[in-house]
Amino acid sequence: MTDINRQWLLKSRPQAALPERSDFERRDVPIPTIRDGEFLLRNRWLSCDPSQRAWMDSETYIRPVGLGETMRSFTGGEVVESRHPGFKPGDLVTGTFDWQDYAVSDGHDPLLGKLTPLAPDIDLPSALSLFGITGLTAYFGLFDVGRPVEGDTVAVSGAAGATGVIAVQLAKAKGLRTIGIAGGEAKCRWLREDLGLDDAVDYKAVDTMAALREKCPDGIHVYFDNVGGEMLDAGLANLAPGARVVLSGAISGYGNFAEMPVIRHYPNLILKKARMEVFWCSTTCHAASRPSR
Ligand SMILES: NC(=O)c1ccc[n+]([C@@H]2O[C@H](COP(=O)([O-])OP(=O)(O)OC[C@H]3O[C@@H](n4cnc5c(N)ncnc54)[C@H](OP(=O)(O)O)[C@@H]3O)[C@@H](O)[C@H]2O)c1
Repeated sequence: MTDINRQWLLKSRPQAALPERSDFERRDVPIPTIRDGEFLLRNRWLSCDPSQRAWMDSETYIRPVGLGETMRSFTGGEVVESRHPGFKPGDLVTGTFDWQDYAVSDGHDPLLGKLTPLAPDIDLPSALSLFGITGLTAYFGLFDVGRPVEGDTVAVSGAAGATGVIAVQLAKAKGLRTIGIAGGEAKCRWLREDLGLDDAVDYKAVDTMAALREKCPDGIHVYFDNVGGEMLDAGLANLAPGARVVLSGAISGYGNFAEMPVIRHYPNLILKKARMEVFWCSTTCHAASRPSR
């Protein structure tokens, strides 16, 4: 257990898609003290999410991380001291506790809303992935926004990534014909053979648009897009009548939107009477915008 609080601050706004080591700076400060109504959390796990890259830019959908501020991040940790009636030492909690050893919380999270200790049978990594924003995004994106019905074909870009891999498994569990798009034969084999997907497209080896046409002759009913750019275009080119396009994210363009390719097949939305919808998943915004299932 460290007796200082090691923090990583955002020093400069990254210029390239991938941040540089020099964009961050370490600062060692004393472990913070708590007041009535607060608890002190020792971070144990840090989640590395594509949205963090967006938060480093000055223009984003929430307040960007300020220069000189601790880098924002979902983390999971253990309560080590508490003057909050809802938390006791030993409780495990996840929240936006940033790149640092220790965080103070009043039980309200800027992105997740009201915090509660984890149920005893949930470990921190699972709480940050399957039962966290990643899993919620896959679940609500697929079922609330995509609204698949029996007999539908679902295609998912970024299918071997954190969100995609949950989305494809949920789709399979619902008995839907499911196609994953991922980079590399090993990932595609894993999707087909271990996860039981109906098929997978290696976007690094083949023309994704043509491969989707071949594998989805009746078109894609739900296209769950984590990637944007060429992957979105490939999906739009292969929509079934009445399709739903779920815009989960556009990771191919994070940090470099200006270089993203033109989406040429968006008129297919009109021709196929399809719907394309973006959604943001956080506990608070979801509760406000969509009914729970
Ligand atoms: N809407 C929401 O509320 C919400 C919440 C969470 C996440 N998201 C979004 O969901 C997406 C995925 O997040 P994640 O946490 O699953 O990230 P992740 O685990 O890092 O996975 C990202 C995947 O994207 C693929 N990818 C990256 N660049 C690509 C490119 N140029 N072409 C094709 N594929 C590419 C990678 O595929 P390969 O490794 O196979 O190459 C990787 O598996 C992101 O866009 C994120 O912003 C949205």
